[in-house]
Amino acid sequence: MLSDTDVFAAWRSAQQAAVERALEHWVPPDAPAGLGEAMRYAVLDGGKRLRPLLVLAACEAVGGHHEAALRAACAVELIHAYSLVHDDMPCMDNDVLRRGKPTVHVRFGQAQALLAGDALQALAFELLVPGDGSVSDAMSARLCRLLALSAGADGMAGGQAVDLASVGVALDLASLEAMHRRKTGALLQASVVMGAATGTPSHDVQALLARYGASLGLAFQVVDDILDVTADSATLGKTAGKDAAADKPTFVSLMGLAGAQAYADRVLDQAHDALRRSGLDHRHAHTLHALADWVGRRVS
Ligand code: IPE
Ligand code: IPE
Ligand code: MG
Ligand code: MG
Ligand code: MG
Repeated sequence: MLSDTDVFAAWRSAQQAAVERALEHWVPPDAPAGLGEAMRYAVLDGGKRLRPLLVLAACEAVGGHHEAALRAACAVELIHAYSLVHDDMPCMDNDVLRRGKPTVHVRFGQAQALLAGDALQALAFELLVPGDGSVSDAMSARLCRLLALSAGADGMAGGQAVDLASVGVALDLASLEAMHRRKTGALLQASVVMGAATGTPSHDVQALLARYGASLGLAFQVVDDILDVTADSATLGKTAGKDAAADKPTFVSLMGLAGAQAYADRVLDQAHDALRRSGLDHRHAHTLHALADWVGRRVS
């Protein structure tokens, strides 16, 4: 008999492959003047695809609409990929390595990187509005709104602004947590909420899944801060040690490695707790539990 761990590993690779195929299909090679090449370089062939996995797992948990969820899964990954392209640019974190390859601006130049990010963001919303009736207008509108809120001024982009404004500043716990919830947590939470929105769960289940997503999202960035210190660049596929070098406030700079790990574990417990309180049974919730565990013990 297969263990829960084996079932999750099999589910994860099957879904990652499905997302890969869908992205391959939907990110066009033929945009003018090499833009398509830069877009595909930024998106394909790399990344853990955590956000798409959360969308698909939440959709399965509520018995949602699969085509809408696959589109939402790819849309949120496109926003994430665009955020990484811009995050790596010299005007932001100035990184040369991402997903084990030279960053997009190193490979294609800054202007093309900027445009690839812009075009990926637009493509994300295009995917949510297929125009062939495969997703209802009402569901398209709802998914667009959720994604826009999480990517914009009160979500990822706002969090990134706080991140840049905080270089050399010793943020307290509340401010650091607020920054992480925006810059990284919002998109991860939106992944769960969008997956749930492809079905019709009760208001209570929606709220508890949103709470699960918020906790998982915060824990994810705390672990990112930890890995920046403990992992090497080859394993991460991005340059290790950048946060301290750039004087960024992180959970490690605030509370040390052991404190940050204990904090991440505590927040992940809250994610599990929200899921348990949702009343979704094991068959429906086990993949979401497994994804929270995966976030806690990831090595890259
Ligand atoms: C990295 O995200 C950037 C953060 C938001 C911390 P991921 O660790 O999910 O990066 P990929 O998609 O796997 O490359
Ligand atoms: C980035 O946070 C979050 C984004 C919104 C892209 P980081 O700057 O810590 O991400 P990495 O470490 O470069 O992946
Ligand atoms: Mg950054
Ligand atoms: Mg960065
Ligand atoms: Mg980081």
